[in-house]
Amino acid sequence: MNALTSAVVKELFQARFAVVPDVVASAPGRVNLIGEHTDYNDGFVLPAAINYHTWVAAAARDDRELHIIAHDFTDQIVRFHLDDDMQRDTMMPWSNYVRGVVQQLRKKDFRLRGGNIFITGNVPAGAGLSSSASLEMALIRALTALSNEHVEPKAAALMGQAAENEFVGCNCGIMDQLISACGQADSALLIDCRDLSTRAVSIPPDWDILIVHSGVKRGLVESEYNQRREQCEAAARYFNQRSLRDVSLTHLLAAESALEPLLFKRARHVLTENARTLVAAESLMKGDMGSLSRVMAESHASMRDDFNITVPAIDTLVDILATAGQGLAGVRMTGGGFGGCVVAIAPHAIIPVLMAAVEDYYQQETGCEPTLISAKASAGAFA
Ligand code: GLA
Repeated sequence: MNALTSAVVKELFQARFAVVPDVVASAPGRVNLIGEHTDYNDGFVLPAAINYHTWVAAAARDDRELHIIAHDFTDQIVRFHLDDDMQRDTMMPWSNYVRGVVQQLRKKDFRLRGGNIFITGNVPAGAGLSSSASLEMALIRALTALSNEHVEPKAAALMGQAAENEFVGCNCGIMDQLISACGQADSALLIDCRDLSTRAVSIPPDWDILIVHSGVKRGLVESEYNQRREQCEAAARYFNQRSLRDVSLTHLLAAESALEPLLFKRARHVLTENARTLVAAESLMKGDMGSLSRVMAESHASMRDDFNITVPAIDTLVDILATAGQGLAGVRMTGGGFGGCVVAIAPHAIIPVLMAAVEDYYQQETGCEPTLISAKASAGAFA
């Protein structure tokens, strides 16, 4: 299903609206190599945009209405006026991303035109690969282009995040939107989520990314996610700091007996994960797989034991891949957790070995069906 191109999307649009679209925009999903649940703690992350995209085609209308078709939701249609008071839609939740984004664009005084809009994509939904962020970024691109408005990539990312926080109701950090907007081909991006500065880290040309969907649908994500965030904020408050970024590991360890054990574990994950992310970026830059695979293994253990966001099938999948990789592959769960995907990065020649191991053992050991996704680090929507 990875054969969507601008031409295909144009044709699909034309078949529905009987006009040629003025704009065809796309934005990628992402895979996070390391730095999990660190973004909302003002920490470091190391994601890459991937070659799976959400596409938004648009043609201007004479009125101030948006008529939106969601191809991947059985061509459902939603219509609203750009100046409407935005209400959350429980029947067609996908449309909340559109309403949330329009609300943010309005707040920032972008002068939007009405339009016929068509949405489709091939970022697997509910897999932890940021299909929502890619939808937000593609929408912002398309709606601003349609209105001859210019938007800066980081501003777009912040509006996407605000749409989720304020309208959709997910308290996510900035990682997914920022990488979908600013990703670079053949590179991961080291992002400092405190000041949103980014540094591209090229992936060695003979290394590939393999994503394996565990077949476990992500459950309880929102409530568990928001709870982890609250626990991190509570831990930061204990140290009288605004975020865990301002707490050192030495201080945290010294407070172990005084801090509530669960908060201690949550904070330990975040602080050690920040340190691992910096080591990982360095290792990637040098092509040092020994070091990268070590920190990725430690990251997974920390997500499992300190942050408690993995599930047994994911742990088994990581074990199978790491055993097959024999230190020549970096392997860990990727994304918010509670199901979803595992990421592996390895020299080209090792990838078939990893794939064979998943096919030989995973379903037999867990009863879950894996999906193998070969991914390429790709350019962001605004790159
Ligand atoms: C989700 C959120 C991100 C980030 C990750 C965990 O993808 O949208 O902001 O917090 O989980 O690293």
